[in-house]
Amino acid sequence: MTATVNVAAGDITDFATPALVVNLFQGVTQPSGGTGAVDRALDGAISALIADGEIKGKLGELTLLHTMGRIPASRVVVAGLGKADNFDAAAVRRVSGDVARFLRGKGVSEFATIAHGAGIGGLDAGESAQAIAEGTLLGLYQFDTYRSNGSGADDDDGAGRADAGIASVVIVERDAGSLDALTAGVSVGTVLAESTMLARDLVNHPANVMTPTRMADAAREVAETVGLELDIIDRDRMTEHGMGALLGVAQGSEEPPKLIVLTYRGDPDHPENNLGLVGKGITFDTGGISLKPAANMEAMKGDMAGGASVIAAMRAIGSLQPRINVTGLIAATENMPGGKAQRPGDVVTAMNGKTIEVINTDAEGRLVLADALCYARSLGITRLVDVATLTGAMVVTLGKACTGMMGNSAGLAKDISAAGDRSGERFWELPMLEDYRELIRSDVADMKNTGGRQAGSITAAMLLREFAEDADWVHLDIAGTSTASSSKGHLVKGATGVPTRTLAQLAVNLADGG
Ligand code: BES
Ligand code: MN
Ligand code: ZN
Repeated sequence: MTATVNVAAGDITDFATPALVVNLFQGVTQPSGGTGAVDRALDGAISALIADGEIKGKLGELTLLHTMGRIPASRVVVAGLGKADNFDAAAVRRVSGDVARFLRGKGVSEFATIAHGAGIGGLDAGESAQAIAEGTLLGLYQFDTYRSNGSGADDDDGAGRADAGIASVVIVERDAGSLDALTAGVSVGTVLAESTMLARDLVNHPANVMTPTRMADAAREVAETVGLELDIIDRDRMTEHGMGALLGVAQGSEEPPKLIVLTYRGDPDHPENNLGLVGKGITFDTGGISLKPAANMEAMKGDMAGGASVIAAMRAIGSLQPRINVTGLIAATENMPGGKAQRPGDVVTAMNGKTIEVINTDAEGRLVLADALCYARSLGITRLVDVATLTGAMVVTLGKACTGMMGNSAGLAKDISAAGDRSGERFWELPMLEDYRELIRSDVADMKNTGGRQAGSITAAMLLREFAEDADWVHLDIAGTSTASSSKGHLVKGATGVPTRTLAQLAVNLADGG
């Protein structure tokens, strides 16, 4: 079940609900605003706990009080917001996810909250409401498609799932002048959260289900729901286009490959106002003939996370309808060993005529992206962002805290950073120095597909650069950030859906003129 977030006018001290969420900045001894009003209605119960030192207001701290009939709400949760100086929408997202999972664990089916930070916190009401919607819906996300009792009994919060889950969350606001902004924020936040959950679902499904064909089906469903054009390029058409790099990877698999193309026309009279989103869709990466070790190989069902985030971002963009033309391209195939698989040493020719020596068949992501980038260029797209679980080296470099970013356009990288500031998804740029190009020099072809142990994430990007050609292009390596190892805030163990929200925000920002 997915919860819904709504806005209601009124005074929280009069609001009947199983649980009411208020907040506290670290170091505040006399709560004001909504928290102050609830404190007074509870005869100073909150300020007494602050004086005792039990409530400190630290980010992540949750304190549950039972109201014993003093107000219509049965329970009050005081959520710490951390230091006021560090406060931002990301803190609201974090708190909202933590609170929602906490109350679900208590068996609560609905709760009400104040708009965190919309008063003294300095956030505008819409931003606060959007972050509450995103944090709550994403924090409550569960993937139990494959549990025969559907109960999530093995969830990592250990609470079990005897409850039915949280059906409804209400943001209660006394100031009538803020209601429209809150409602608009909830609506955008809900679209972005639902789209992100689509990306998570696609990644969390096992590879025996989430084949390239199923990814194409998912794209078709999105296209029908929000009104996008869809083109699915099959093996024969790939051959006609000369997509030798993508076909080389796909040739080892019995599953038919699909190059999925979703088109949103938000500014049809200005074709130059365009954005291409290109996703790696390796539905399972065995490594091919350069076979991966068995340990953790199951995680390679998530090697289509870039493609999943592109499908999901196209859903969000189709719903939000910014004035810009956006094309999503997903290169979907398995990377399998077998009698027909490509071999180390093979040379393939991509759609733009450039040749690649395949040193390691496990460096397959850059091969499929090469042809997807070429195809995007052939459609006239001049601004490209690719998203890929491309290199293990990126997990070593940046871990799971931020996504690695590389490219040929400082302007587009800045646009992505700005969109990330808004979404709370973080990006860190690595240098594309010319010195790295020689690492992928081949003795027999225009380039080779691996550059050895040095700067593994950057040499992968250097290869992609050859296929972006003269477009403005940025590459996002989400090998680390596409999955979470534990639940925290809006993240739940498993797929994160990163960077769906940033891609959608990018399209919105570009449509607004930067
Ligand atoms: N899909 C992997 C990268 C990856 C590794 C993603 C771990 C998420 C977690 C990619 O196709 C790959 O195998 N890359 C190789 C490249 C190497 C052969 C140059 C790698 O990183 O080891
Ligand atoms: Mn690989
Ligand atoms: Zn891969």
